[in-house]
Amino acid sequence: MPALTIVVAVLFYAAAATLAGGVAYHIWLYARTPQPLKIPTTPAPTTRAGVMLRMLKEVTLFESLFKANKWSWLFGWVFHVALLLVLLRHLRYFTDPVWGWVVLIQPFGIYAGFAMLAGLAGLWARRFLVDRVRYISSPSDHLMLALLIAIAASGLVMKYVAPTDIVALKVFFLGLMIFSWQPLPADPVLLIHLALVAALMIVFPMSKLLHAPGVFFSPTRNQADDPREHRHVAGWAAQIDNTSSGVRR
Ligand code: HEM
Repeated sequence: MPALTIVVAVLFYAAAATLAGGVAYHIWLYARTPQPLKIPTTPAPTTRAGVMLRMLKEVTLFESLFKANKWSWLFGWVFHVALLLVLLRHLRYFTDPVWGWVVLIQPFGIYAGFAMLAGLAGLWARRFLVDRVRYISSPSDHLMLALLIAIAASGLVMKYVAPTDIVALKVFFLGLMIFSWQPLPADPVLLIHLALVAALMIVFPMSKLLHAPGVFFSPTRNQADDPREHRHVAGWAAQIDNTSSGVRR
């Protein structure tokens, strides 16, 4: 087995474990964090069904970002929708046989690669050109954008400039999933693409990118505006109430 195959295989097992473990751990932390106060951003829905609809609009249309800033919304929304399409298009490297709908979206996935780059370029430009955003931008904000741009750019280079052996690549990844290692094509651009993807998977659970699962735990978004109908008790307050220490809320 070529050393390169072994290195990339081990790298991807480590990256997948870090991503899955890290995201699961943070979701567990978020789920256990008490929400001591009712703080939904008003006007807010007053029922559970209403909250679910609000959340659905938030994660599909980025509603609050739209209300806040149209340029950020435009670039942010284009980037995320394009990313989704690109990832769905990539399913063909990990499934055999490839599902019909994955075959259908292939052409859109390619345009999405360019749309993803355009969205990221806009989001990055904003961090340099808008004074107020430049002032609060940290190195990690820039790093995440640079990483995503480099992944998209190396993917497009593979598509249009330096193609790789996609069939062999697929055999490698299908093998990886059943612990039967197969040789990986040694094309430089593919190796760059894969190394950057592995880096993204590893930093994801320690980065701002955790906002993806995090948005569902945001009290300003996931609470119903019903403090008059139901008394709001934080989890830890209920626990204190049940102890014999006599502490009462
Ligand atoms: C292990 C995971 C991945 C593998 C094996 C992989 C592999 C590939 C390959 C072989 C191509 C060239 C497609 C072609 O020639 O038709 C490509 C393109 C691309 N990749 Fe990836 N990639 C992975 C993950 C990602 C991720 C996580 C992103 C985004 C964050 C991404 C973004 C892109 C983009 C934008 C393109 C160009 C558009 C396209 O062909 O879909 N890739 N990738």
